[in-house]
Amino acid sequence: MKKFIIGKEISLHGLRSKDLSEDSPYFNWLDDLSLDIYTERSYFPNNLKSYRSYYEHTCENSDILLLGIYDNQSGKHIGNISFQHINWINRNASINYMLGDKEFTGKGITTQACLMLMYYGFNKLNFERIWAGVSEAHLASQRVLQKVGLVEEGKKRKHILRQGNYYDVIMMGAIREEWIEKFGDLARSCFRNPKEIFPE
Ligand SMILES: CC(C)(COP(=O)(O)OP(=O)(O)OC[C@H]1O[C@@H](n2cnc3c(N)ncnc32)[C@H](O)[C@@H]1OP(=O)(O)O)[C@@H](O)C(=O)NCCC(=O)NCCS
Repeated sequence: MKKFIIGKEISLHGLRSKDLSEDSPYFNWLDDLSLDIYTERSYFPNNLKSYRSYYEHTCENSDILLLGIYDNQSGKHIGNISFQHINWINRNASINYMLGDKEFTGKGITTQACLMLMYYGFNKLNFERIWAGVSEAHLASQRVLQKVGLVEEGKKRKHILRQGNYYDVIMMGAIREEWIEKFGDLARSCFRNPKEIFPE
């Protein structure tokens, strides 16, 4: 397995060419409307051109860090996680995720992936703040964000239209010093060997 961020149960690393084909799980997740009940992804249909050009954008630009989430035991590609809107001057970024493989839902996978990526963001990428926006209706994702230490900071009122209704988007954030103090040890416990990535 390629190495980047290696956890005890899952690893995060760049997508492989087989993850990007038309018959890959990832391509099919994007057509699965049940994975997009609360998000804004599927207003336009998925197609190979836009799918590949998004991936190419992530390779050519430093405003996005896109990683696949891989199950260590099976090696399966089960989801994606990313930093987006990276602002290298103000040192902040949003955290975004999609657990595509439903067999792995409800097992704490997204929680672990967020904790590891946030630890990486604060310690290696030198971020000061990590934020996310989540629909008021998306209770599971709100719970994930609370579990990984993001706190509510405000709301964008009636910001998302889904199934004929407008929903508020709850804006949540974490600041480096506070987060490391409260969540640093929990995040380190998710890595296979934190010293591999963060030598002392
Ligand atoms: C929502 C999603 C991120 C959850 O991932 P996951 O790996 O199953 O999440 P975890 O197992 O780490 O944690 C889920 C938490 O939400 C809770 N939860 C699940 N459904 C819930 C609901 N309807 N109401 C309240 N809490 C709920 C779980 O009990 C768990 O909390 P707990 O550990 O305190 O019991 C994943 O299903 C997903 O990616 N969905 C599609 C894309 C998406 O919605 N992305 C987020 C955009 S903001």
